[in-house]
Amino acid sequence: MGIPLSKVYIDDEIEKTTLESLLSGWYILGEKVKEFEQKFANFCGVKYAVCTSSGTAAIFLSLLGLDIGPKDEVIVPSFSFIATVSPVLHVRAKPIFVDINLRTYTLDPAEVKRKISRRTKAIIPVHFYGHPADMTPITDIAEENDLFVLEDACQAHGAEYKTRKVGGIGHVACFSFYPSKNMTVCGDGGIVTTNNKEIAEKIKMLRDHGRREKYVHEMIGYNLRFNEIQAAIGIKQLEKLPAWNASRRKIAQVYNRALSGLVITPIEEHWAKHVYHMYVIRTEKRNNLREFLNRNGVSTGIHYPIPIHKQPAISSILGQRASLANSELAANTVLSLPMYPGLATNKVEYICSKIREFSKKSKG
Ligand SMILES: Cc1ncc(COP(=O)(O)O)c(C=O)c1O
Repeated sequence: MGIPLSKVYIDDEIEKTTLESLLSGWYILGEKVKEFEQKFANFCGVKYAVCTSSGTAAIFLSLLGLDIGPKDEVIVPSFSFIATVSPVLHVRAKPIFVDINLRTYTLDPAEVKRKISRRTKAIIPVHFYGHPADMTPITDIAEENDLFVLEDACQAHGAEYKTRKVGGIGHVACFSFYPSKNMTVCGDGGIVTTNNKEIAEKIKMLRDHGRREKYVHEMIGYNLRFNEIQAAIGIKQLEKLPAWNASRRKIAQVYNRALSGLVITPIEEHWAKHVYHMYVIRTEKRNNLREFLNRNGVSTGIHYPIPIHKQPAISSILGQRASLANSELAANTVLSLPMYPGLATNKVEYICSKIREFSKKSKG
């Protein structure tokens, strides 16, 4: 039996709540969605939360909610999942790629400052792999230049920046509930969090055909709604999230102790609480190590092998002028090891022993 990269948690309670919602007769935007939104807002310490059909939809609707559109520039990292950037193009704004720092794999604030122009309208820091971006310098730059900050928190449910939960630091924040995330709704789903009532109301309307009332459409909207069964699952998963994040952090410590000196292990800045959506190491011998682990029953992942500015769909529109050394180095050397709540210590030790074996072999 191999060790998977991640695992979705399902128990009797989740099965029961799923069945109850299935039999309730109400499937879209009902009481469960409202309850989940309220509970998620409370969890993040914000006033409003709006469920959407995915994390990508959350980012897209947030950009529309902030009135970002043609001629606007949006500062983004290139080392992320493409969904950080594709919604920027969907609203016809221009993504401006900025490099990351190699300690946390998040936006480098000094680089952000350098890329501000008259057209810049927003910055999208990504709390990557579960580690928050350095938000104080980013929000300072945003304030000085009258910009919006949209947190991409799709990989960071429960992470903290200077003891504040991510999701309430920027003007809006977006989370994903895709099955590999720290919590899931066992399908696609996302949520926007904000303290701004007007933005929350606009996003709510946009996700449901531009309406507040059944057949009165105040704007041209979309169908990017959320479902009752998934909200019911989300409520249960949210209850377990703090314990799951604690378990991820313990597993990371076991990895850190065993792997230090063998590969570059993840860092937790003194101002951060990392929730290890992924446990990501870095090594020049990434591809060979990956193959070796695979032969030994250990699943791994590469998040992500091609920086966004080099993706064919992006470079064909924007060209490939940007040289983002850290993003490119990370894309060539990162490797995600198995990480999920409850991953047994003896399994982590086995994975680390295999990495030690590989290191010895490849030196000798
Ligand atoms: C950093 C980041 N942004 C955005 C997304 C998009 O989320 P979703 O897959 O729910 O659309 C994801 C997840 O896949 C992600 O990891």
